[in-house]
Amino acid sequence: MIVLGIETSCDDTGVCLFHSEKGIISNVVSSQVKLHAEWGGVYPDLAAREHTRNIIPVLDRAVKEAKVKLSDIDAIAVTVAPGLIVSLVIGISSAKALSWSLKKPLIPVHHIEAHIFAIFIEQEVHFPFIALVVSGGHTELYIIRGFEDYLYLGGTLDDAAGEAYDKVARILGLGYPGGPIIDSLAKKGREVIKLPRPLLKDRGKNRFNFSFSGLKTAVMREAQKGIYRKEDIAHSFQEAVVDVLVGKTVDAVIEYGIKNVVVAGGVSANSRLRERFQEESQKTGFSVYFPPLYLCTDNGAMIAYTGYRRFKETGRTTGLDFEGKARLR
Ligand code: KG4
Ligand code: ZN
Repeated sequence: MIVLGIETSCDDTGVCLFHSEKGIISNVVSSQVKLHAEWGGVYPDLAAREHTRNIIPVLDRAVKEAKVKLSDIDAIAVTVAPGLIVSLVIGISSAKALSWSLKKPLIPVHHIEAHIFAIFIEQEVHFPFIALVVSGGHTELYIIRGFEDYLYLGGTLDDAAGEAYDKVARILGLGYPGGPIIDSLAKKGREVIKLPRPLLKDRGKNRFNFSFSGLKTAVMREAQKGIYRKEDIAHSFQEAVVDVLVGKTVDAVIEYGIKNVVVAGGVSANSRLRERFQEESQKTGFSVYFPPLYLCTDNGAMIAYTGYRRFKETGRTTGLDFEGKARLR
């Protein structure tokens, strides 16, 4: 079976063709990074305009690269939530048009669920596992007991981890997106400033919640002093974020006695986060899994795969009358 996956929830236009036996047969992502760099973040109306321009060329390229015909597609999976509504509707409308004209089923996919299940595209992980989703819009901890069997443990109360990276990069005048830039700059710095580790020691109701907005403000205060090198600020900030992300995940591993951890979303590409998780997994005794880099940031492959899995495991599809949602638990 061949499933087409469409992702347009934020600023990347992603289309993938996933084959049930061969895996990914094409995966095209058109990034709008250069466009949004000017604003230091994603500007929704511009993102929507670019999706409108890109969706058909990206789709066309994905079909050509997979060496199939549109009529070979068996089902169409699309991100329905969460995300920028003006961006989501471009992917959803395209998916509906394809489903209607090709007379093929339409499968709804939740963006966060897809980030988590992207891990299975290249490796096997046994249930249950703890999932830490860290992206531009989300920082969340779950217990994943099986497909469609998820327990939410906690999430961010304000800024997401990726958002904090992007905002700190803006404060330091480094460009957009901030994550990869800070990741490499931090390698040249030292932890000269001891920044707060928000909620890390919280044993109450915020035990598995996150908060990064105060940390960003603390970085701004330190940067304004004008005495530290950017490398050292970047390094100190990254150590604080990584301490919190790893610390809370390890707490969940211990509390629930779960031995597998999956880290997903754009920030899971971070080299220091990967390094620290490897160290902690050996110390505490759990296995940690990261998707390959091309599956960390937004892409159509995670949507196609999760759609395929939904179809195979539940057979559930949707009619043509559904809408996208900016938020959806
Ligand atoms: O998953 P994603 O592509 O989009 C959302 O669903 O939000 O994540 C994008 C986020 C951005 O905030 C970007 O700065 C961050 O992921 N990111 C990184 C790295 N690569 C991307 N953050 C830290 N280190 C990286 N290497
Ligand atoms: Zn994402």
